[in-house]
Amino acid sequence: MTAKVIDGKAFAAGVRAQVATAVAKLKEEQGITPGLAVVLVGEDPASKVYVRNKHASTVEVGMNSYEHRLEASTSEADLLALVARLNADPAVHGILVQLPLPGHLNSDLVINAIDPAKDVDGFHISNVGLLGTGQKSMVPCTPLGCLMMLRDHHGSLAGLNAVVVGRSNIVGKPMAQLLLGDSCTVTIAHSRTKDLAAVCRGADILVAAVGRPEMITGDFVKPGATVIDVGINRIERDGKGRLVGDVHYASAAAVAGAITPVPGGVGPMTIACLLANTLTACCRAHGLEEPKGLTA
Ligand code: GUN
Repeated sequence: MTAKVIDGKAFAAGVRAQVATAVAKLKEEQGITPGLAVVLVGEDPASKVYVRNKHASTVEVGMNSYEHRLEASTSEADLLALVARLNADPAVHGILVQLPLPGHLNSDLVINAIDPAKDVDGFHISNVGLLGTGQKSMVPCTPLGCLMMLRDHHGSLAGLNAVVVGRSNIVGKPMAQLLLGDSCTVTIAHSRTKDLAAVCRGADILVAAVGRPEMITGDFVKPGATVIDVGINRIERDGKGRLVGDVHYASAAAVAGAITPVPGGVGPMTIACLLANTLTACCRAHGLEEPKGLTA
């Protein structure tokens, strides 16, 4: 079997187009422009690239982008004061504090200082609790993107066996909650799982979010399964830098029914879902109907 390639790049372009249309309508009919504030503390090179991409995408869909770049030495009190200002600013509908923060700053404290209604990352403990109890929340962007692609491919996910490999707060745990919300039978596996390959082979939906390059090989995949690769790992091969996922693509694609590539799979969906979440937060803030198909 050769797997269908799930084109995340094209899917993300479709989501961004849907967001842009809704933003134009909001501006024209309500005189409202959604605004996203991104806070970057320090000089982490990968974070700088992410923040630049977020800014460009935000502007492209017609939203206001507010960037706040702070010195690596910024105190927790100053960062919390900025978050409080953004919480109080009616032009800001979404707030994202780029992680990781420098070591002297307490990420949990800072994230939990964000107004949950503006927490477009879905990392605030209130949103985590709302998601876990099946209530309306802000949903973390990467798992939301995975869910959108899975719903598009399968239609209903009800009754399917889903295995999520990885137990991070950003991807693994919220992904499992979302799949449970769509009535999958969900297993969360991780680095200490016994006979991981056998557990994975039970999956109709296999989500790899372990952060280990090409760890999930074809022998982990049930024939016909859908494989979602969340990993983005930079490796050296044949003297060249390359980007690979957590899935060994060639061997997995030979067995799977459908698979997301790296790059061009889950990656582009994360920023598209950040924009979707900002739009959702803006609609909720103004008591307007939420856009369809862009939330969990
Ligand atoms: N750093 C890497 N990914 C993310 C993300 O999705 N949100 C935030 N805030 N920081 C990140």
